[in-house]
Amino acid sequence: MKRKFLIDTDTASDDAVALLMALRHPDVEVAAITVVSGNVPLAQGVTNALVTAELCGSDVSVFAGADKPLFREAEYAEWFHGSDGMGDQFYPAPQRQPEEKHAVEAIIDTLTTETDLEVVTLGPLTNLALALQREPSIAAKVKKCYIMGGAPCTVGNVTPAAEFNIWVDPEAAQIVFRSGLPIEMVGWHLCRGEANLRPDDIDLVRSFDTPYAHFTIDCNRTAQEANRIQSGEIGIPLPDPTTMAIALDPSICTERSNHRVEIETKGEFTRGMTVVDELNVAHDERNCDLWRPNGYNIPKASICWKFDVEKWKALLYSLLQ
Ligand code: RIB
Ligand code: CA
Repeated sequence: MKRKFLIDTDTASDDAVALLMALRHPDVEVAAITVVSGNVPLAQGVTNALVTAELCGSDVSVFAGADKPLFREAEYAEWFHGSDGMGDQFYPAPQRQPEEKHAVEAIIDTLTTETDLEVVTLGPLTNLALALQREPSIAAKVKKCYIMGGAPCTVGNVTPAAEFNIWVDPEAAQIVFRSGLPIEMVGWHLCRGEANLRPDDIDLVRSFDTPYAHFTIDCNRTAQEANRIQSGEIGIPLPDPTTMAIALDPSICTERSNHRVEIETKGEFTRGMTVVDELNVAHDERNCDLWRPNGYNIPKASICWKFDVEKWKALLYSLLQ
């Protein structure tokens, strides 16, 4: 029996590799791809998702969702991912169109009809928050929700305090983290350092000489240079693929624990900060490990603190060959 994933994405270059991993994994069926404004404007994100699905020979349904955050102005990251979000490769337009149905409706419909569905979010949480507001009961229907986002007790990448996906729409993130979804938060810290695709790794991927391998490197061309400018690190940063790797094989996360997570929505300097109570010092009786559907409890989220870089890269390579 294949695992079923719903993937919500602001499809740019690292998202595209994460989508490719799920679409090519033999044990996974991608039930739907829903697109949200983030790295690039919504329409570009939809195009990039369709281009990636077609590269993988997949006819998975792609749904367009929110074109801006719940209350704030849209923010993009074209400086990092290129004007097309795909390393300025300007791939040919996709053959397919997105579905007519809105992504929020698609999320609700998919989560109410499928059982044991796992959700992987790769962008701002606007679509998921809107779905939860319309239909709160879907939180209890999700087997696991892997969220690429946040900077647990560490530095952000868009401000000193916040990671991009949470910073773009902190109000949406607050709704999601308080919803009762069984969340595993995979923060930006994991994709840094040795987890980057280093020059030797890039040469190895190129040596596979498959369309998937060349796509992975080509579409992340601008991200590699932006990474050096942003954090002084060498290589291609792949936060979404590291999250997807953990979703595909949870054993890749080697250190995880449950904590209350609050999202800063009012801070002058800390908008979008994921305030993780690592020591569980905030003795709030609403915090609980196991969510009970009484609408009162705020379940702790599982935070992935460390992961196995070698296993992460081995899984990625296996899906690019
Ligand atoms: O902060 C990294 C995240 O923001 C990734 O999901 C990247 O694609 C961007 O959306
Ligand atoms: Ca993303």
